Amino acid sequence: MYPEERSRRLRTSESLRNLVAENHLDRNKLIMPLFVDESIRKSEEIKSMPGIYNQTIDSLESYADRLKEIGIRSVLLFGIPEKKDGEGTQSFAKDGIVQRAIPILKKRGILVITDLCMCEYTDHGHCGILKGSEVWNDKTIDYYGKIAVSQSEAGSDIIAPSGMMDGQVGAIRKALDSYGFENIPIMAYSAKYASSLYGPFRDAAKSKPSFGDRKTYQMDPPNIKEAMKEIELDIKEGADIIMVKPALFYMDVIREASLRFNNPLAAYGVSGEYNMILNAVKNGYLSEATIDEYIISVFRAGANMFITYFAERVMAREKGKI
Ligand code: PBG
Ligand code: ZN
Repeated sequence: MYPEERSRRLRTSESLRNLVAENHLDRNKLIMPLFVDESIRKSEEIKSMPGIYNQTIDSLESYADRLKEIGIRSVLLFGIPEKKDGEGTQSFAKDGIVQRAIPILKKRGILVITDLCMCEYTDHGHCGILKGSEVWNDKTIDYYGKIAVSQSEAGSDIIAPSGMMDGQVGAIRKALDSYGFENIPIMAYSAKYASSLYGPFRDAAKSKPSFGDRKTYQMDPPNIKEAMKEIELDIKEGADIIMVKPALFYMDVIREASLRFNNPLAAYGVSGEYNMILNAVKNGYLSEATIDEYIISVFRAGANMFITYFAERVMAREKGKI
């Protein structure tokens, strides 16, 4: 009570504010998404994601050098194959785009998390094998097992399944264990919503479904109890790290998951979040500080790690400071 309580006492200088801050920008906790694209000849900026480029295998060499130089510790890797087909066979090809990209990153000591899905690889753009016009759950998770093994053989450090099929984590765990990859962790996209914020990603990954949408497998935005159930199931099936995606419109889900579960929790700030914030900053309507406030808010909500397209920008700016 005034005058005994003076909250302003701890706000008088930047050093003091930093000393009492409850959360910090920490480079060890930022994960940079990364696209390698077999269908282009040289690296290409993604129109709806200024500053983010689809890399080729060649351009990845120097891009990986840059990531290492600015201190990026981990990436979430996506591949776009030259040839797509009904079964997404390039997703588990020995010489697939992701399989070839992994060693380039590993050589620089960067931790590689591989996204595991089929929508970038199928000609119909859905996240699995079709039966008629439906995605066939149980067939699809057999394929996911195969992809997980292939990514691990290529040197992936963490497998991150994003297809939202039932039983996917269990099927992947089983496949990995039976091939001797019992020490490869699974980062499960546990509560992944059918969000309208994925548009720019689908431009980048050329993965827009050719018919229908993803609402029969991804979660319905109004639900949070269901998210807790999805996370619980994934943990039971063997998920090591759990995830909530998107981040910005789903802070309540991040909060609730962080309070309820003891597994490390990742949040994914998706392409639409990047687009909204970056464009406001680029146009001068919001300041650069908005980006840091956005990132710290995700940690304050309870995430242990944050997958964000801003990782590179922030690290380049803060080089040596965080
Ligand atoms: C693939 C996948 C998507 C994203 C990550 N993995 C797209 C989708 O589900 O359509 C979205 C990421 C982003 O928007 O940044 N299943
Ligand atoms: Zn997918």
